[in-house]
Amino acid sequence: MPDVTFKDLEHKGWTEKADAYDTWFATVTRQAIDPLLDAVGGGLTGKRLLDICCGTGHLTAAAAAGGADADGIDFAVTMVAHARQNYPGLSFNEGDGEALAAADGAYDAVACAFGILHFSEPEAGMAEACRVLKAGGRYGFTVWLGPDKGSEMMRLIGGSMRKHANLDVDLPEAPPMFRYSDPEISKAALSKAGFRDPEFTRLDLEWTCEKPEDVLTMIYKSIVRAPMVLERQTPVIRKIIDDEIMEKASRHFRDGKIRLAFPAAMFTATKP
Ligand SMILES: C[S@@+](CC[C@H](N)C(=O)[O-])C[C@H]1O[C@@H](n2cnc3c(N)ncnc32)[C@H](O)[C@@H]1O
Repeated sequence: MPDVTFKDLEHKGWTEKADAYDTWFATVTRQAIDPLLDAVGGGLTGKRLLDICCGTGHLTAAAAAGGADADGIDFAVTMVAHARQNYPGLSFNEGDGEALAAADGAYDAVACAFGILHFSEPEAGMAEACRVLKAGGRYGFTVWLGPDKGSEMMRLIGGSMRKHANLDVDLPEAPPMFRYSDPEISKAALSKAGFRDPEFTRLDLEWTCEKPEDVLTMIYKSIVRAPMVLERQTPVIRKIIDDEIMEKASRHFRDGKIRLAFPAAMFTATKP
């Protein structure tokens, strides 16, 4: 796949998946909003906050409800459209988290929920966040923790893919999915980007659904990185993986629902 970059595929994927995002995926990412806002702002009244990779707009809206003058940006025009539809009157614009349009020192707080792992150069994104913050401003981002850190969701998807999929498919190079969930790596990257006092907090989130098929709907309709590989498998292999994911998902029924632990890492730091 010569001229297509990881960023091109991410952009295409998120542009196509915005319609299903709120139903199938924002249910878990919304659980990170309060901790992330607390960590970057505490009292946000009158402060300017930038929500990078705002998706369908929920963190921006929560910040605005807390008194912040909040802006959301996302590179997928369809995500921006959903954010505007969800929260008319709030500020949502197209923008690239790796090359922000904002002026130096424009914001008191910057948040990026589950966006960094979709950047082709995550550390460029951290440096941009630092640039647009005022001195003393706070930055926070979240990324998913891996199967070795208790993520039943990642074990379910990744385990079946590793077991059956041809992982040597024609895809452009991308940063490893879990690199920035490692506290040592992210704290060092934040320091290199210009921040001080980087901190790591584990967030124990949970994804729930009614039936095993819902896991496949979530994967194919509302997220991007796993389908990049799954959609490049033969129909036979894909069916084997899909069937195994459903079978394993059915083992997670508790209190009438399928419940999958989906923990995240939250990193926060201050601009000196
Ligand atoms: C997993 S979603 C997270 C959305 C939202 N923050 C949330 O927590 O639900 C990732 C979002 O990042 C956006 N995104 C990915 N790369 C981006 C980039 N380089 N610049 C801006 N947005 C980007 C996608 O369009 C998508 O809306």
